[in-house]
Parts: sequence; C-alpha cells; structure tokens
Amino acid sequence: MSVRERTFLMVKPDGVKRQLIGNVVTRLEAKGLKLVAMKMMQIAPEMAEQHYGEHKGKPFFNGLIEFITSGPVVAMVWEGDNVVEMVRTLIGATDPRKAGPGTIRGDLAVFTGKNLVHGSDSTESAHREINLFFPEGGIYEYMLPVESSLYDE
Ligand code: RTP
Ligand code: MG
Repeated sequence: MSVRERTFLMVKPDGVKRQLIGNVVTRLEAKGLKLVAMKMMQIAPEMAEQHYGEHKGKPFFNGLIEFITSGPVVAMVWEGDNVVEMVRTLIGATDPRKAGPGTIRGDLAVFTGKNLVHGSDSTESAHREINLFFPEGGIYEYMLPVESSLYDE
C-alpha cells in the first residue's frame, strides 16, 4: 500500500465550541480523504508560538496565540493525493467573508479571527506541523475499501 500525501488539519477552539467537529470531518470523508490520526488537546502558548511562528511580529499575532490556546482543539492528519492543496481549497479563504460557498469557512464562519479550521499551506508546513502535533507518532496506515473507486491506480 502506498502512503499518499499527508496534511495537518485542526478544528480551532471556535469550531469545537460550536460543535462543528463532525461537520468538518464529514466533508473531508465525503471528499474521499483518509483520516489517519486525530486527538483533542489544548495547545500550550509555547507550542502555539511555534506553530504560528511565521506570523510573529504581525499585529494579529498575540490575539491569534491567545485565541488558539483558549480552549481545546482537534488535531488531525489526513491523507490522499494532493491532499495539502485539496484541503486548503475545501477550507476556503482566510477571511470567511471572501471564502466561497461550499467551503468550510464560506459556509460556516463570518470572521477572520474565528475561522474554524487550520490547514497546512505546503507539504513542508505539513511535515513540520505533523511532527509538532504528533511527536509520539500514532499515525495509522490502513486501506479504505473505496480507494480503488477514487483513484486511477
Ligand atoms: P491558518 O494558518 O490558521 O490555517 O490560516 P490561513 O493559512 O488561512 O491564514 P494565515 O495567513 O496563516 O493566518 C493565520 C491565522 O491568523 C489569523 N489572522 N488574522 N486580523 C488579520 O488580519 C489576520 N490575518 C490572519 C486568522 O485566524 C488566520 O487563520
Ligand atoms: Mg496559515
């Protein structure tokens, strides 16, 4: 069995509090992506600063760290061909007001600071974020019966 590309996806504290974990998971499952790791956790400030390190110094940075550490999140790893780009498309634009209909943010959110989900923006970010959130591993390899109906090979 070949391991296809992997990405990191997180339901942020607003998504957990709004009871939208299942909604997010259902969309990705219905698309044909494979869930290979998942856990609920509260992110420590140091970890949040590492995760969002690229935004250090920006005006929204402190608020972002405060928000992302304000309650539990659900961290996940998803697998599939071109999954990084595909999940970003399914999530929609950073500003939910600009996110298209049919996307997670476009359908379910109204404000940039509470935009429900995070998805890795490149395969490099995905690798880094998966190692940061799942240092213990716990990423599963299994076959979906539908895989032969989803892909060419
Ligand atoms: P994320 O990393 O959370 O998946 O979001 P993203 O790639 O779509 O956007 P990014 O530029 O990485 O920004 C990270 C998060 O910071 C907050 N933000 N606020 N007030 C602002 O101008 C602003 N810009 C970004 C958002 O919560 C965004 O998801
Ligand atoms: Mg980002």
